[in-house]
Amino acid sequence: MKPNLIKVILPAILLLFFSQNSFSQLPKETEAQKTQRMKWWTEARFGMFIHWGLYALPARHEWVKNRERMTNEQYQKYFELFNPDLFNPREWAKMAKEAGMKYVVLTAKHHEGFCLWDSKFTDYKSTNTPFGRDIIKEYVEAFRAEGLKVGFYYSLIDWHHPDYTIDRQHPLRQESDSAYARLNRGRDMNKYREYMKNQVRELLTNYGEISIIWFDFSFPGQYGKGRADWDSEGLLKLARSLQPGIIVDDRLDLRDVEGGWDFTTPEQVKVEKWPEYNGKRIPWETCQTFSGSWGYYRDEYTWKSPAQLLELLIESVSKGGNLLLNVGPTGRGMFDNRAQERLKAMGDWMKFNSRSIYGCTQAPDEFKAPANTLLTYNPATKRLYVHMLAYPLNRLTLPGMADKVKYAQFLHDASEIRFTTVQNTNDLSLQLPVLKPPVEIPVIELYLK
Ligand code: GLC
Repeated sequence: MKPNLIKVILPAILLLFFSQNSFSQLPKETEAQKTQRMKWWTEARFGMFIHWGLYALPARHEWVKNRERMTNEQYQKYFELFNPDLFNPREWAKMAKEAGMKYVVLTAKHHEGFCLWDSKFTDYKSTNTPFGRDIIKEYVEAFRAEGLKVGFYYSLIDWHHPDYTIDRQHPLRQESDSAYARLNRGRDMNKYREYMKNQVRELLTNYGEISIIWFDFSFPGQYGKGRADWDSEGLLKLARSLQPGIIVDDRLDLRDVEGGWDFTTPEQVKVEKWPEYNGKRIPWETCQTFSGSWGYYRDEYTWKSPAQLLELLIESVSKGGNLLLNVGPTGRGMFDNRAQERLKAMGDWMKFNSRSIYGCTQAPDEFKAPANTLLTYNPATKRLYVHMLAYPLNRLTLPGMADKVKYAQFLHDASEIRFTTVQNTNDLSLQLPVLKPPVEIPVIELYLK
């Protein structure tokens, strides 16, 4: 009996211990393995973000509870009223697919703490509202059926959980140390950390293959929260152990940890150039709203036009990145008209021009974009795409490219574009029709030598 204890049981216990806590390492992979793991995502370029929760009812920003400093009691009415009777995720999935999106990320839980699935670890969930349905389950099935890769957003921040300590981003934030101390008495972040792990385990176990997880967000410092508060490494190890291929954002506060993140997430900004870390270009995805808010906001009128949205997408690809474009469905469960119109317009363009998006990236340095154009490049087919943001009169000159181009055509209708070399130069002059083709942003496809 004794030798057995030492030879078998002890090592088993040690193994269990080390694999369960932060002494164990995040899975190691080479640069090439990471590129391979992320290949589908890098080639997809265009995804849909969905922010949906109780905040769809007040319809004035997903941070409404925070902005208006509401207590749980004041916010409770939205829980009691939540009943999106028109919710049909198959319609959502169709709209995403027709817009040209290849993946989707839904807020399983946002900062308000409300859970869109039948979690065993809370009562604050959709199945306990008048609606009574497991939204995550229906969402996963619907989007998968349309062939999109499915992901979850999971908020690290939680403005409802009784053990989550009040911090500077909380609706109940305070002015003095003593006030914080009073409110935080009895709150136990150990329990909250356990809660997050339990929930992440549910989400990544019960719904089949999950391709992306978006943890959001860290804000270290005084009355802030960072990696130690979340046990970021523990969460990430758990996620990777349950879904080895999963792609993870960079908001766990693990920037300097090997394997601590997969891509960076510039939010609501146009990047100046391909983002780098330690001098190396890194995978990136910009997340953007149609207007200023992520959750449904009835009275927000700064909606971007279809041309601006397409430019955001092309611009991202031209710098080697992705676009995650957000929809905030209403309290009835619909994409509102403004969102539908824009998705439709993007789909109309993508139907004919997606070849300049999927599988494309920043053009090699030898190609310089003429004024008012954006270039993308497909390294597999060696084709270069010129997106004309402003349509020129009847010529477009591509500097230094006369000896590089075999053939040129409009992408949307495969009609030839004839060209000449500008005398005594290596510049290529494309002869364009005066009439702008009926395409929001026309694209020229260049076959390179
Ligand atoms: C922010 C906001 C949040 C939104 C997210 C999307 O961090 O807190 O409301 O979900 O960005 O990137």
